[in-house]
Amino acid sequence: MESSDNRVIVTDSLTKSFDDTVAVDELNLAVERGEIFGLVGPDGAGKTTTIRILAAIMWPSRGQATVLGYDTVTEAEAIKTDIGYMAQRFNLYRDLTVWENLNFFADVFEVTGDERRERISRLLEFARLTRFKDRRAHHLSGGMQKKLALACTLVHEPQLLLLDEPTTGVDPVSRREFWEILTDLHLQGITIFVSTPYMDEAERCSRVGLLHHGRLIICDAPERVRQGLEGELLGVRASNLKRAREIASQLEGVLEVQTYGDRLHVFVDDASRREPEIVDHLTGAGIAVHGIRQMRPRMEEAFISLIRREQVSSDQ
Ligand SMILES: Nc1ncnc2c1ncn2[C@@H]1O[C@H](COP(=O)(O)OP(=O)(O)O)[C@@H](O)[C@H]1O
Ligand SMILES: [Mg+2]
Repeated sequence: MESSDNRVIVTDSLTKSFDDTVAVDELNLAVERGEIFGLVGPDGAGKTTTIRILAAIMWPSRGQATVLGYDTVTEAEAIKTDIGYMAQRFNLYRDLTVWENLNFFADVFEVTGDERRERISRLLEFARLTRFKDRRAHHLSGGMQKKLALACTLVHEPQLLLLDEPTTGVDPVSRREFWEILTDLHLQGITIFVSTPYMDEAERCSRVGLLHHGRLIICDAPERVRQGLEGELLGVRASNLKRAREIASQLEGVLEVQTYGDRLHVFVDDASRREPEIVDHLTGAGIAVHGIRQMRPRMEEAFISLIRREQVSSDQ
C-alpha cells in the first residue's frame, strides 16, 4: 500500500463460505482514516464474519483484505497488536472487578507503570465507570459491561477500532450513551468500524454499508442513502392494518407499502395528491383512518426498501 493511501481497511472480493452458506459474498469495501463506518444488517447478514476476517482471526475463503496496510492472512500478528477489537461476545473476566479487568488487558498489551495508572483512570472516567471500579464484572448491567469491554479495547490506544455489535441487546438509554462515547472517540481522530443490527444507529455514522445475505447492497453517507429513496412517505394509522395494506398497495401512485409497528408507511409519487385518495379508498372499504401525515424517511425505511428491491430482483 502506498504511504499516501489514507485507506485503513480495504477488502477485495472478500468471500467466506461455511459448507453451503456464503456468509460474506464478494465484499468490496474501503474505509478511510478518521471515518466512523457502520456495517449494518439483520441477524445472519455476515457482519461478525466480516469483522473476524478484518481482525485477522479468521481466514477468507476467497479474496483478500488489508487492515492498516497489513494483509489479514500473512500479516495477522501486526493487525492483532495494532487494532482494538471488541468481539460480539467479548471476554470480560466475570469474577474480576472493573479495575482488575482493565489491568488484565494492560498486562496483555504491555502497558505498564505510570502510563498504565494514568490511562486506566482516564478510561474509567471516559466510560463513566469510575464509581463502579471495584464492582465485579458479572454484577454490572449489560450496558456497563459493554462500556467496560470498550475501555479494555482502548487500553493500548489503538488508532483503529473494530467493534462487533457493541450495542446488541442493550437498553435504548445505554445504547445512546455508548454512541456518545463512540462519537467522542471519533472526534479524537480514531477510526471506527462498527457493526450493528439497529438501523437507527446508521444515522450516527459518517458512512454506512448495508449487508444482506453477505452482500453489500449499498455503501454511502446516510443522507445519500435516504436521498436515494423514491417518492414521498405517508405514515398511516388505520383500524385494520393488514387489509389497509392490501388496499393501499393497489392504489395508483403508490410505490411501496411497509408495515411499521402500528403504522403503515406508504411511499407515493406525490404525497399531497395521494393523501386524500388513500383516505377515501380506505374509508370506502370500511377501514377507520386514525391519522395520516407526511413523514421524513429515515435510514430504516431506506434500508427496508433496498432489501425489498434486492429480494424482488433475486426472486426473478
Ligand atoms: N462458524 C460458522 N460455521 C457455520 N456457519 C456460520 C459460522 N459463522 C457464521 N455462520 C453463518 O454465516 C452467516 C453469517 O453469520 P454472521 O457473520 O454471524 O452474521 P451476523 O453477525 O450479521 O449476524 C449465518 O448464516 C451464520 O449462520
Ligand atoms: Mg454478529
